[in-house]
Amino acid sequence: MSGNLTTELHEGVLILTLCRPEKKNALTRAMYDGLSAGLERAREDNLVRAVLFQSEGDSFTAGNDLADFQSQSSGNSDGEGAPARFLRNLATTDKPVVAAVQGNAVGVGTTMLLHCDMVYLSEDARLITPFVNLALVPEAASSLLLPARIGHARAFAMFALAEPMTAADALASGLANAVVQRDELRSRALGAARTLAGKAAGSLRATKRLMRGDRSILVRMEEEGAIFKERLQTAEAREAFAAFAERRQPDFSRF
Ligand code: COA
Repeated sequence: MSGNLTTELHEGVLILTLCRPEKKNALTRAMYDGLSAGLERAREDNLVRAVLFQSEGDSFTAGNDLADFQSQSSGNSDGEGAPARFLRNLATTDKPVVAAVQGNAVGVGTTMLLHCDMVYLSEDARLITPFVNLALVPEAASSLLLPARIGHARAFAMFALAEPMTAADALASGLANAVVQRDELRSRALGAARTLAGKAAGSLRATKRLMRGDRSILVRMEEEGAIFKERLQTAEAREAFAAFAERRQPDFSRF
């Protein structure tokens, strides 16, 4: 285990488990780097035939660590950035990816699911994309992929109003394969990943490329990334991060 993440190869399935439950699995740079390392290993290692994301505790992930955003907002940028590297690796991996999601999946916790091939949700799962509340913009090509999957009006409400999507709605919208009881979540997702691991790898790879090889996704990710980086430096975003740290509502009326 390193950086609040465990990596384990189990019968052809590379299981990446977020382990920072006391902070709702908010993703630090070290955690993003660990996820990237897992995906890079999956690309190169023929023993890895599927990838499974899961997490400890009551939330899948509260998204990017807001203290990290706050520090970047004060000028501490880290080049391409660990989140961008992770998202590029995820969007381009040729191995099938499965996710097991319980509780809150916030920000990248939701947008990363748009790049997973199979998604299992527990009954209490909630997908939340509060980018405008944080004075940011959508990432992970979600500004392209989410409206394409659920329609503009619902996607806009999720981005602009942080309207949560329930597990039942996500299933009905085709964002998930099944909604299961919390105590069955891991076994169902692992079962799916193991089934995928037993399939013809070349055929799966080609199928995935046909379904996901659209270059417009990477182009949109880059466009979003550039605007996201600019937004991080704005007074609006600084106010949003300060408000979270101080447990109060942001006041955007001054800007
Ligand atoms: N970054 C850093 N820390 C976070 C975090 C995040 N994204 N989300 C939660 N935490 C921390 C809280 O600060 C708190 O830490 P503390 O115990 O040291 O005070 C701890 O995790 C528990 O969070 P809390 O808000 O008390 O839990 P909750 O069950 O009431 O609410 C969430 C859970 C996920 C709904 C809420 O924490 C939340 O909205 N977090 C921010 C999500 C977000 O905006 N992410 C960025 C998306 S781009």
